[in-house]
Amino acid sequence: MPVGEAPHGGQGLPYAARVATLSIRDEVPLRLGTVSLAAGDAFPPQLPDLTDVAVKALTTYRAEALQYGPRAGLPELRRWVANYVGADEVRVTPEQVLIVNGAKHGLDLICKLFLDPGDAVLVTSPTYQSALGIFRAYQAEFVRVGQDAEGLDLDDLEDELGRRQRTGRPAPKLLYNVFEFHNPTGVTVSAQRRQRLVELAGRYGFLVVEDDPYRCMRFEGVPVRPVQSWDEQGRVIGLGTFAKIVAPGLRVGWVTATTDVVRRMASVKSDGGSCPLTQRMIFEYCRSGYLEPHVHDLAKTYGEHRDQMLDRLAHDLPEATATRPQGGYYLWVRLAEDVNTEELLPLAARSGVRYLPGSLFYPAAGPVNYLRLAYSFSSPSEIAEGIARLAGAVRELRRSS
Ligand SMILES: Cc1ncc(COP(=O)(O)O)c(C=O)c1O
Repeated sequence: MPVGEAPHGGQGLPYAARVATLSIRDEVPLRLGTVSLAAGDAFPPQLPDLTDVAVKALTTYRAEALQYGPRAGLPELRRWVANYVGADEVRVTPEQVLIVNGAKHGLDLICKLFLDPGDAVLVTSPTYQSALGIFRAYQAEFVRVGQDAEGLDLDDLEDELGRRQRTGRPAPKLLYNVFEFHNPTGVTVSAQRRQRLVELAGRYGFLVVEDDPYRCMRFEGVPVRPVQSWDEQGRVIGLGTFAKIVAPGLRVGWVTATTDVVRRMASVKSDGGSCPLTQRMIFEYCRSGYLEPHVHDLAKTYGEHRDQMLDRLAHDLPEATATRPQGGYYLWVRLAEDVNTEELLPLAARSGVRYLPGSLFYPAAGPVNYLRLAYSFSSPSEIAEGIARLAGAVRELRRSS
């Protein structure tokens, strides 16, 4: 037993109330030969070669890259991000940009700044599973909002807000959503609904958190202006990330908000400032003009992966109904009612394929026959193998029950 490890996993330690009820999910390393259709990882052959920018960061910018950096991020990168989101009509100054250790870190800081235990947070059901975990750690109470093919159901939202007001319950503090290529459903919220949401946020006094990691991963169709581009009152906080356009491992993302929110957020940022080395590398990569062609290539690759996955599903698992997102990383798949995707999980693992069961994406109990498949990480031939194994696992589950 390792030094300091208590015999029963440390029960009796004085954990905080907010973590005592959190479930622990250990990460299991990927076994050689297993096909991962689980996490939204990047396709390894297309991770960019960052050698030149790393060398530059560690030589020309050594004193900056290896020193403590500014809390709010490197000024050049903040300026670059302000311009980048400006191309999508989000009008922010560099002072309205905070550099963080990935979008999830940004969400954590939003919770730290705005949520008290028991505060109501509006989410779709299903929604991004990691966001649910972050909200749970802040003891948020989930209020579910419906969604359809046009995304967030604004009539349902307005009914809920009105009901709460009439019954004297406090307005929710914030609404969280992935408006472009929703994770996991792939749905994109229409422009008209985005505008109406901004109006509702002003009327009922809640914040909108717009988590937008997949905007550039569009394979077809026309992009919709970010919700934040319609916001004139500082009610929308944007979350962006280099994870999906450069490399997830660098852990660099951003928050766009009012100057006041950014200043407050920077002051509760307990890392004292994100890593200057990775920020410098990313800035040099972007300013050298590498980003645009890279993102273009990525979107092409992921579009092909999506088509391959849809094709293999139709062939091997015709009973499955899958979304056909116009971009992003995932398919949201419904299996027959009798297939419980939690029970399927160990069989799939034994057959050498990984996915995420739908249950992870629901704020409360939900249907059991959904799963999320990521097509980003695996190659087309691995996707074919993974879907064949998944179909085999479904057959095995049927036989065993
Ligand atoms: C909706 C959503 N937000 C954020 C992220 C990534 O955040 P980060 O920048 O922390 O890697 C992901 C990645 O899977 C995501 O799907």
